[in-house]
Amino acid sequence: MTSARGIFSDGPLEKRGGLVARADDILRKNDMGSWTKAAPELYPHQWSWDSAFIAIGLAHLDVRRAALELSTLFAHQWKTGKVPHIVFNPEAPPESYYPGAEHWACAASSPDAPPAPPYTSCLTQPPVHAIAVWRIWEAAGRAGEASLSSTRDFLHGIYPRLFAWHRYLATFRDPEGSGLVTIYHPWGSGTDNSPRWDGALGAVEVGELPPYPRYDLQHVEGSDQRPTDTDYDRYLWLVKLIKGAGCDERTIYCYHPFLVKDVLSSAILVAANDALLEIAEVVKAPDGDRELITGWIQRGRRGLDQRWDADLGLCLDYDLRAGSPLRVRTIAGFAPLIAGRQSTERLAALLGVLDSPAYAGHPGLRWPLPPSTSPEETKFDPRSYWRGPTWPVVNWLLWWSLVRAGETQRAVNLRRASLEQIASEGFGEYFEPFTGEPLGSLRQSWTAAVTLDWIASGPLQEPLRDEARSRSKEARGR
Ligand code: DGY
Repeated sequence: MTSARGIFSDGPLEKRGGLVARADDILRKNDMGSWTKAAPELYPHQWSWDSAFIAIGLAHLDVRRAALELSTLFAHQWKTGKVPHIVFNPEAPPESYYPGAEHWACAASSPDAPPAPPYTSCLTQPPVHAIAVWRIWEAAGRAGEASLSSTRDFLHGIYPRLFAWHRYLATFRDPEGSGLVTIYHPWGSGTDNSPRWDGALGAVEVGELPPYPRYDLQHVEGSDQRPTDTDYDRYLWLVKLIKGAGCDERTIYCYHPFLVKDVLSSAILVAANDALLEIAEVVKAPDGDRELITGWIQRGRRGLDQRWDADLGLCLDYDLRAGSPLRVRTIAGFAPLIAGRQSTERLAALLGVLDSPAYAGHPGLRWPLPPSTSPEETKFDPRSYWRGPTWPVVNWLLWWSLVRAGETQRAVNLRRASLEQIASEGFGEYFEPFTGEPLGSLRQSWTAAVTLDWIASGPLQEPLRDEARSRSKEARGR
């Protein structure tokens, strides 16, 4: 894979605002020893794709700690290979997050579930993990022979788990062999209230639900930043159905009313399988594994090709229940860019849309960063979670994909704008794209983590490698 390091030289931004120290501070305060809270209050547990991004950032401070982040998550992998979307923190304050461990406790009685406590959910999130493991390996390579040797052991330990995770996605989540990952809950996409899901959710008839709390709203400045009560009714109804099916994948596949092919998760899986192939090489995995992984990559690319909408110049999710594409312009449309290795024509089409007023070229944007939903969509809402705000973590994925695609100047611009946004507004979970106001959690771990990775990928004008790293290690040792 192409390493992003060393190709940027864009000025003294990193000197401003002590970004490294501030990012390090956030990760330190959210550190639980062997894993990291996604955010101090709003998200007091371990989230799956958050942890992968967090590990990418931690790798620049402490390679061992980065590896531990993922080892902890994968210790709670299900027997099917599934990596749960949340591992619940038994020490989280009561009434801090809903639905919490009690709500998911029944998942533990599934014969496929890992030993509990800690309890886990039975949903998943996008599979960024192999990309994170490869990034840790790259960081170890820069840190010297001792680090490389302990990270090699980590790779040997985590490889079979990553392989099982990807095999689960290629089988249980794709019984059609389409190359695309099926999700059965919007939470499984990581982009909960995106208008991507409106069409499929609209067809779900919500039955009787007991009253439930919205603890999330006490941790944000305004309820307009979070999904609505109607959204939550649907989320909790779907959870109820999934639990009613005993969290059994085959039963869910047969009867569940929300079953969607998610192109963003599918594209991340293609890129993660590329990373898994690299890891397989390091650990000298059997040829049979590599053949399977190569087959998954090819199938994933074909699946994404089939979901390409030439009119929009984007990829679209597909509603399996309705048998139709979900036609709305969101950030997920750039899935082929994330999957990588597109034809010149397809790449040009995607970049044209990315630069257009429908996304990062909109004249009203505070920074030229793509909103999560196109401002040209009627469902666009600049404050509401995945319905419009811009997300640093998505910008990181796009930046990394641009680097891999050889689109260096675009990558430089995106990184610079992202770092300027964070230097100016802080470590928000997401940002209002026109005003730049930080929204959601204001000390979000993955925002801190991608900041560290962006800075490390440019000129090291802050003492990231020495002072901040040893400060971080000392603090963790305390
Ligand atoms: C939340 O609680 O907002 C999460 O996105 C669900 O995983």
